[in-house]
Amino acid sequence: MKIRIYDNAEQAGSAAALLIAAQLIKKPDSVLGLATGSSPIPVYKQLIALYKAGAVSFAKAVSYNLDEYVGLAPDHKCSYRRFMQEELFDHVDMRPEATHVPDGLATDPDAFAAEYDKAIRAAGGIDLQLLGIGRNGHIGFNEPNDHFVGGCHVVDLTESTIDANKRFFNSADEVPRQALSLGISAILEAGTVVLIATGSDKAQAVRDAIHGDITPRVQASILQSHRDVYWMLDKAAASLL
Ligand code: F6R
Repeated sequence: MKIRIYDNAEQAGSAAALLIAAQLIKKPDSVLGLATGSSPIPVYKQLIALYKAGAVSFAKAVSYNLDEYVGLAPDHKCSYRRFMQEELFDHVDMRPEATHVPDGLATDPDAFAAEYDKAIRAAGGIDLQLLGIGRNGHIGFNEPNDHFVGGCHVVDLTESTIDANKRFFNSADEVPRQALSLGISAILEAGTVVLIATGSDKAQAVRDAIHGDITPRVQASILQSHRDVYWMLDKAAASLL
């Protein structure tokens, strides 16, 4: 694994964006696995800047997002589809039909999850997966558990995740209790994984994932078994390494 430590979140984000841009230059029709939340925001800002400078194009790329809240419509202000439109897709030359975010309104979420995995496989798998990490070590919404779940699935969110994500909603009560999340298999099968973690509240999870045992209690620890992972950290997130 490659551990890169930067002075601040903006620098970590810019460096992660350069890895994604390099992937798109090497393979313009790359399948990108994308994430939401606070951590990737500086990554997307820098990707937009690179696109506007003519340094990168998304015209041939395909994307699959990690997750979506069950019950939220695509245009809900807290949906991950809306986040992706506002933070990236609306500002670059990505083809709308090439962007995929799990459908929070799927009438049969389990069937949807199985189809989502199939679609990723049919697209050739993910070339580069961008990840954040939860304070409890989750990746996607793969929450601490007594086992790893391979396929895309419906997850019951933990209190820790609901608490961490309530900042985007009016109150904790409004945070959906379930999400659709890519499982561990599609993440591990990605050619390259770029995980961005910033801020001191991620330091323990980062330490446990990198130096602890591989355990489903810290889902990100499974990345120790991936051959091409970049940990893009700011000093605060790296402070316990
Ligand atoms: C988001 C996702 C989550 C977040 C994680 C960290 O698509 O899958 O695993 O990456 O919860 O969130 P932030 O970056 O908001 O701290």
